[in-house]
This record gives sequence, structure tokens and C-alpha cells, in this order.
Amino acid sequence: MTATNTTTARKLTGNIGAEITGIDLRSSISEIDAADLRDCLAKHQVIFLPDQHLDLEQQKALTSVFGPALQLPYVTPMDAEPEIIRVYRGAEEKGGVFGGDWHSDFSFLEVPPSGSVLNAHTLPPYGGDTLWASQAAAWDALPDALQDLLLGRDAIHVGKPYGVKWAPPVKEQSGAGIKMSRGDPTADEEMKHPAVLQNPVTGRRMLYLNPTYVTRLDGLSEAESAPLLDQIQRHVTRPEFCIRHPWKPGTIAVWDNLATQHYAVNDYQGHERLMYRTTFSGLSPRDMAALPDKAPRVAAE
Ligand SMILES: [Fe+2]
Repeated sequence: MTATNTTTARKLTGNIGAEITGIDLRSSISEIDAADLRDCLAKHQVIFLPDQHLDLEQQKALTSVFGPALQLPYVTPMDAEPEIIRVYRGAEEKGGVFGGDWHSDFSFLEVPPSGSVLNAHTLPPYGGDTLWASQAAAWDALPDALQDLLLGRDAIHVGKPYGVKWAPPVKEQSGAGIKMSRGDPTADEEMKHPAVLQNPVTGRRMLYLNPTYVTRLDGLSEAESAPLLDQIQRHVTRPEFCIRHPWKPGTIAVWDNLATQHYAVNDYQGHERLMYRTTFSGLSPRDMAALPDKAPRVAAE
């Protein structure tokens, strides 16, 4: 990050994540700070801004720094706040948590969110961490044979958790903190995205795969794809490419949804947790397709 006012970025791991301090997001965000935040996000893929305690208007203002706010299908937003999802889990809720497996948000859409913003409000006394994995660092370290297999190839994404084919019964949602509109057959339609993207700002390449929504690689059957996708996913989620974030109230996280996968840890049953999530749009994965050649790799920084 370039020096502006007292804003500083501190890397949190070797491959992903930085903490940004010295900026008050409750005040209006200057253009120079906005540009720095965007640069930091492109460079670190997920950024954490502690002690912000933003209200919803301030969160929307921050979100607009990165791109136009998105209204997403399937997940019911807040009343009168169509751009904000109240990510709430009550102390009495059992079973899975929202986002409790590795995924990129809504990757099955033609234009998925470019990024997401999560605002920590109420936290359990322990647990409830979120992990992110860098699909850029994972690409850099991927064996040549797998890079050759993926460059120029599409992957098939399907919104199966939101569609009719795999949707859980509505009764399983009773009492849930997050409501979803199920039974939308369009969520079961296949969407092709390039398996490898290239960030237009940094030039850096990244995988664009995740086990929640990707069903197969184009040109291969699900059975043929499964062992390859499993192997790649184990690689992406190696600890070296991940960051695990223990939340504090008032912390804001912003992540590049096309360069990362994330995972909400389900280990705080009996306690409530409340976050507010916004998402923003940008280029489509198709617009960011990496060219099918072996151009020199771009260093992380
Ligand atoms: Fe998510």
C-alpha cells in the first residue's frame, strides 16, 4: 500500500490476507484511500479492517468503493435493505452453517460477485472463524501437468444448493436465521466459467474452481473430473495458501471472490453469531479468462 495519511497494510501470512489500519471507514472515504483499498484487495485477496463498527449505511458506502452493490438471488435479504444479507445463526440452531464448506460466493451466476464484505456484529465466545484460500497462490504452485490441463478449459458450475434437484425440504429451514427461496430451476442450469482467470490489474493468474458449485471440467464427465477436482481442491486448501481469521466485533473483511474460496467454521453451536454481508460486482469470469498459453508467471508482489 502506498503511504496515504496513516493508513498501513500488514501482511498476515505469506500468501494471502492483510490487516489494514489507520483508516476510519465511518468517515467519508477519500478517492486516494479508496484506490489504496482496491489495490490492497487485488494484492492480498482478503483484507481485514479492525475496530470499524460500521452501521449499514457505512457498510454500503464501503462496498461501493469496490464496485456496484449486488442484489443476489435465492438468499432473502433484509427488509428494506435489498443489498444486505443478515448472516445470523441463533443459539438454538443446529446443523450446518451458512457457507460451511469451501466455496466462492454464487460462482454459478453468469456474473458472480467480484467480492464480498462481511461486517462482524455479534460473535460467539469462541469459534465461528472464517478461512480463505488463495486460488492465485495455488495456481502458482500447481504442477505443470495440471496447469496445462486447466489453461483454456472451462469448468461447469451449478447452483445446486439453491435449485430444485438438491434443495433440502423447506421444513429444514424453519427456525433458521437465514431464509432462502428454494425451488428455482434456473439454479440447476449449468454455467461455464474459465477454470483459470487472470486479474486485469495485477496480471496474476488464479484458479476459479470450488467444490460446492463446480460439478465437472468441460470435456470430461463428472466421474472423470472428480479425482482431478479433488486433487486440485486438496492443493488449493493446503495451509500455506490459507488464512484463518478469528473475528472480533467491529471487524470488516473484504475479499476478492474470484481469487479465493472461503469456509465458515461450524463450531459454536449454542451461541449466536451475527454478521452483515454485502457483495459487489465487476468483471465476469469470462472477461478475465487467462489466455491458453504459458506466459511468464507474475510474482505475487
Ligand atoms: Fe460465502
